[in-house]
Amino acid sequence: MTTFTIKSPFGLSKISIEDNGLQKLGAYIAEHHQEARIAVITDNNVAELYHDKIKSSLPNADIFVVEASEKSKSMKVAEALCEDLLEVGFGRNDVVVGLGGGMVTDLAGFVASVYMRGVPYVVVPTTLLSMIDAAVGGKTGVNLGAKNIIGTFYPAEAVLVDQAFLKTLPERELKTGMAEAIKYAAILDASLEEVLMAKKTDYQPILEKCIGAKVKVCNEDLKEGGLRKVLNFGHTLGHAIEFLSHYKLTHGESISIGIVLANQIAQNLGKQTKAHGDRVVEMLKKYNLPTDLPKGMKLAEVIGMVNRDKKMEGEKVTFILSPKMGQYEMVKLTPNELMKYLK
Ligand code: GLY
Repeated sequence: MTTFTIKSPFGLSKISIEDNGLQKLGAYIAEHHQEARIAVITDNNVAELYHDKIKSSLPNADIFVVEASEKSKSMKVAEALCEDLLEVGFGRNDVVVGLGGGMVTDLAGFVASVYMRGVPYVVVPTTLLSMIDAAVGGKTGVNLGAKNIIGTFYPAEAVLVDQAFLKTLPERELKTGMAEAIKYAAILDASLEEVLMAKKTDYQPILEKCIGAKVKVCNEDLKEGGLRKVLNFGHTLGHAIEFLSHYKLTHGESISIGIVLANQIAQNLGKQTKAHGDRVVEMLKKYNLPTDLPKGMKLAEVIGMVNRDKKMEGEKVTFILSPKMGQYEMVKLTPNELMKYLK
């Protein structure tokens, strides 16, 4: 078992990478929340695959299933879940478990953080993306006219990461997680390059390196006042692309294109060599991730969306560049400057 800890004003958030995650969930709850009611929030895909295992790990849990769609990340669904919790008599010491990918963990975390001003929250991520990114570091949220406009910082008290879930993960979901892993390689950990290019099926080194990198950042800056902004590499334009594709492109596919655009900006600012940019593109292509804007999507539309980005400060957005593998640089740019450096 490998463990990491994020310390924050919310207490400790313990992330463990270990086998038999669902079984361990039952044991964790029995040890830490013996008397509590448990509400498992999951989606229909995960429920179909793991219903029996959830029931055998947590026989008395209430299971709430949302549609496996980004559309479920809404205030309407969050409100309905809060109503469901109230209806089953859920109280302040009861525990919400988020079991699923990034959509589920963002939504379940949001519900846990606002229901009765916050109840204990435990996460079992089932996708590579949620294991290495969404479930770690306490960002929760729902969408409102753009990605994650309403949300909270609410780190789960425990994150149980088990790579066995990846065996049932569709190929497209796996590669969407790889885009986040490539992000970590490009800006924080050059040693990931070799691991990712080797394309092995043991995900342990990827999990350890990516979660390790994210934990380090979150321990320094949980609320994204400074350093955590680096995790937005590829995301500022990526989120816009994801939204404009009406979520037909996955998060990872969108940030893959966002990373390529960020590299173009870096090169036009003289802050990245073409060779390094090409290497990152090679990594993205290794996992069949898209590197061009989808047909019909206009760059001007994508940049237009940046104005709605919650990371805008006045006229400018902090934009993350990768000058070398494993290194980052922050620059502040206006949407007009983004356009200029992308033409
Ligand atoms: N996904 C970026 C972050 O957690 O800050």
